[in-house]
Amino acid sequence: MTNAPVKKVPIHLQSSQNRLLIKNGRVVNDDGMEDADVYIEDGIIKQVGRNLIIPGGTRTIDATGKLVMPGGIDPHTHFELEMMGAKTADDFYKGTRAAVAGGTTTVIDFVLPQKGQSLIEAYNNWRQKADNKVCCDYALHVGVTWWSPSVKKEMEQLVSEHGVNSFKMFMAYKDAWMLDDYELMVAMETCAELRALAQVHAENGNIIARNTEKLLASGITGPEGHQLSRDEEVEAEAVNRACVIANQVNAPLYIVHIMSKSAVKALRIARSRQNPPVYGETLAATVGTDGTHYKNACFRHAAAHVLSPPLRPDPDTPDAILQALADDDLQLIGSDHCTFHEKDKELGKNDFTKIPNGVNGVEDRLAILWQKGVNTGIMDPCRFVSVSSAAAARIFNLYPRKGRVAAGADADLLVWDPRAERTVSAATHRQAVPFNIFEGQHVVGGPQYVIVNGRVCLDDGELRVVEGLGKFLKTPPNCPYIYGGGEEMPRTPQKVDYPEPTTPNRVTNGTPTNDVSVATKQLDGMSVTSSGCSTPTGRKMREPGQRDLQNSTFSISKEMEGLDQKTSVRVRNPPGGKSSGLW
Ligand code: URP
Ligand code: ZN
Ligand code: ZN
Repeated sequence: MTNAPVKKVPIHLQSSQNRLLIKNGRVVNDDGMEDADVYIEDGIIKQVGRNLIIPGGTRTIDATGKLVMPGGIDPHTHFELEMMGAKTADDFYKGTRAAVAGGTTTVIDFVLPQKGQSLIEAYNNWRQKADNKVCCDYALHVGVTWWSPSVKKEMEQLVSEHGVNSFKMFMAYKDAWMLDDYELMVAMETCAELRALAQVHAENGNIIARNTEKLLASGITGPEGHQLSRDEEVEAEAVNRACVIANQVNAPLYIVHIMSKSAVKALRIARSRQNPPVYGETLAATVGTDGTHYKNACFRHAAAHVLSPPLRPDPDTPDAILQALADDDLQLIGSDHCTFHEKDKELGKNDFTKIPNGVNGVEDRLAILWQKGVNTGIMDPCRFVSVSSAAAARIFNLYPRKGRVAAGADADLLVWDPRAERTVSAATHRQAVPFNIFEGQHVVGGPQYVIVNGRVCLDDGELRVVEGLGKFLKTPPNCPYIYGGGEEMPRTPQKVDYPEPTTPNRVTNGTPTNDVSVATKQLDGMSVTSSGCSTPTGRKMREPGQRDLQNSTFSISKEMEGLDQKTSVRVRNPPGGKSSGLW
């Protein structure tokens, strides 16, 4: 493996690389699988099917026994971000190189302006940092880290002129990026007006601030204080509050990095009562490790796990979060990749509040999810595609150009070997920091080939990324998946003329809204339901409490061996929604 960046190949030398045939694989989309060949030309999937007529000189990859899936979309990265007095270790080259090595072919990074900084200026800085470095396509969310009328104007401009359709607001990081509830409400309202998507970091910043004062005063200064200052309840309260505020202003909502069972519970209730929709994202870190690491006596080890919201000490968390992903209580998995060198984490050696927040994940997200979710029978490969790729494409209005293997889509593809084995280690990973929160985990299943815009960038395990190959993706507003086909949603209350004066009630567009008694009853009698996901043979997946299929006769390899008997499987209830949007 070489670390030297490969530069863009001149166009006249590219012709032999322009045509590619992936033969004999099983194509997996979020709504079904079929045995089909995939033909690619000039970065676009041209044909998917059998007995394709292909021009001579086309490179062929034999995918017998392998799955052909859309490249991963990581909806949450932080490359080259300055925060808490430090700068993340992975820039847009190293970060996207690591992404591609693990099978991710699109990332969505966050522009995070300083308090008082112009959003457009920050956006331009990010474009400058990224455009010539990215090894795969990327898009940008923009943080609304302070509020004023000028921020609102810039949000409008970002949507209409700069290809941004999502804005992240913080309910934590008091005195830095946090908005108060009034500002949050106006920011969400603005998102809805612009037909953009409001995203929220859901933790109660005031509770964290007070708990922190008390912990430091009592002498708890180590990394364990980070989780103690912000337990599950602090996250769940903010999830509920964010949902209520979004509901008040009829704004669709996306909650980033959901880390706890309590937060999932709050989200599930909101999802069942709310329209416009609420989406929940969790992280590879949440399903791949846990909060017991904060008690590790080694500061370097414990601090490397510090992120916000924190990993949870409850040992049931990873499985519960995986089940929530399978059941559509959560819709996506990101990485929140935000790595810092040891010297930077040491800024918080004597005060946990000064440890720069962030962990790795962009490289191992897919392998960890496959190992923990698919190999255990919790979710099937279709749901894997949904939560790791297609749902992000749908929600951020990139679908079906991204997130789908179909004629007309970008040729961002994985040839996934469900039998490939490796042990995750900082000794072999591609990201910049010599620490990996998944260190030592044995994973079965990984990318053998990764195709980025039609170019083979992981070639039978050999990484051949091209610096600057990726493009900036404009994400258009008014996403039909979220806003439902363009009909205006009423945003102004309609006056009701009563004969007698009455107590004022909020009037909405007829949708049941925040009936507190319903929500409370649901909280008491919470039940877990299955999404009806099926295995590659259409078999029902594991119900909660059912035996672990890893210890049974179920295996992806065996399912693959039986392919000749069943060449196409349709999932009755597509996990990411119906795929009627193809050309
Ligand atoms: O700890 C985290 N999550 N660091 C990155 C910033 C954020 O809140 O996403
Ligand atoms: Zn956050
Ligand atoms: Zn983040």
